[in-house]
Amino acid sequence: MKRFNAVRKREHWSSRTGFILAAAGSAVGLGNIWRFPFVTGENGGAIFLVVYLAMIVFIGYPLFINEMAIGRLSQKDPVGAFRALAPGTPWWLAGGLGVFTGFLILSYYSVVAGWSLAYTWRAMLVGFSEASDFSAEFGAHISSAPVLLMWHGIFMVLCMGIISLGIKRGIERWSEILMPLLFLLMILLIIRSITLDGAWDGIRYFLRPEIGRISPRMLLNAVAQSFFTLSIGMGAIITYGSYLKREDEIPGNAAWVVGMDTVIAILSGFMIFPAVFSFGLEPGSGAGLTFMTLPNVFAMMPFGRFFGFSFFLLLSIAALTSAISLLETVTAYLVDEKGVRRGWAVVALGTLIFLAGIPPILGYSAWTGWRFLGQFDVLDTYDWFANSLFLPLGALAAAVFTGYAWHIRNAAAEVNKGAGRLRVGAWWGVLIRYVIPAVVAVIIIAGLIDTFWKVK
Ligand code: TRP
Repeated sequence: MKRFNAVRKREHWSSRTGFILAAAGSAVGLGNIWRFPFVTGENGGAIFLVVYLAMIVFIGYPLFINEMAIGRLSQKDPVGAFRALAPGTPWWLAGGLGVFTGFLILSYYSVVAGWSLAYTWRAMLVGFSEASDFSAEFGAHISSAPVLLMWHGIFMVLCMGIISLGIKRGIERWSEILMPLLFLLMILLIIRSITLDGAWDGIRYFLRPEIGRISPRMLLNAVAQSFFTLSIGMGAIITYGSYLKREDEIPGNAAWVVGMDTVIAILSGFMIFPAVFSFGLEPGSGAGLTFMTLPNVFAMMPFGRFFGFSFFLLLSIAALTSAISLLETVTAYLVDEKGVRRGWAVVALGTLIFLAGIPPILGYSAWTGWRFLGQFDVLDTYDWFANSLFLPLGALAAAVFTGYAWHIRNAAAEVNKGAGRLRVGAWWGVLIRYVIPAVVAVIIIAGLIDTFWKVK
């Protein structure tokens, strides 16, 4: 019997759908279901949607392709990828920033996912009663640190379980189960929502075009949302791309993932707003909309416990398939660069990320008074560094790297290797070299000015 080589071969996705569902799983997350609807509602409805779609097509999609190509060619984690393509240069630092950002995002993403798990559990056991004050209940929930710690821990253990199984048996197989389930639950909830009396008012709120709302602030929101929702800027897509075979297709697969992410974000608005308006509730914002307003909807709706359970299960699934891409990125770094065994890497990193989630949890109880720059609590501080600084910086670095260090001609040829009818042309180079770096640099600076000087 022949023994395997001491050097293990890199695992690859077993099929095209496997990659698409896994990458769509990374993209579709809290950003789509929880964040996108209220950001759209608050930023001028249909007008915001048009701007957002433009950002997705002209910035998000080209960057997504870029990360896939860096990963596929190098067959490495983000740090190793930049090292392989530009040996002996400091470009690996861009990968390092990505790995660090993944660690940071997962530590608070898992805390919010834990709220969602807790609400799924609650819907299953007791449901939502009309006599309850859900705002007060949510306040009580997040101020109970031991409870949050437990759900955050459970969520991290789920992620660690899947990632420890590897690419095919872990990420790919679970994405193939969870993504169709997510889609079915969403269809079910949309049908319920748009057949309620007065559903139209919600759709009108979601999509009413308010031309006057175009502002620097809104453009900023649109780009930030497009990075976060596509999981770009930190090497998650480099990592997933590194499990493609060298001959696998890029532009078409990227279009599928970006398309699915966009459709699900829009559908999410159709799921949430008709129900909120049908029961005469305020569209509110953020965590409030999901965890304080929607429970009222489920309390008033016939079979609300079932629909409430379905909704929070959907939210938890979306969070889980995104979180595993964050954990995989960090894990790939230890495995590829430091030669650590996958199992050990997962346990060590999962534990550290769990610990890093403790300060955001305490921010709602022991440390309620703590504020960064007088405005952000602990969780929002983590989120601010990740979203306003590290993700755009990471995306900027990847674009400049491809445009000037790797050389755009080599990169475009690499992207088109294995491509079918959809290919990148000169337009891709123009976007990567000029448009994207300029737009992203402006965004980073405008974001800093906005935060430090509160310019509206
Ligand atoms: N895209 C996910 C969402 O919409 C979040 C996410 C997962 C992410 N992996 C990422 C964001 C990597 C940035 C980078 O919720």
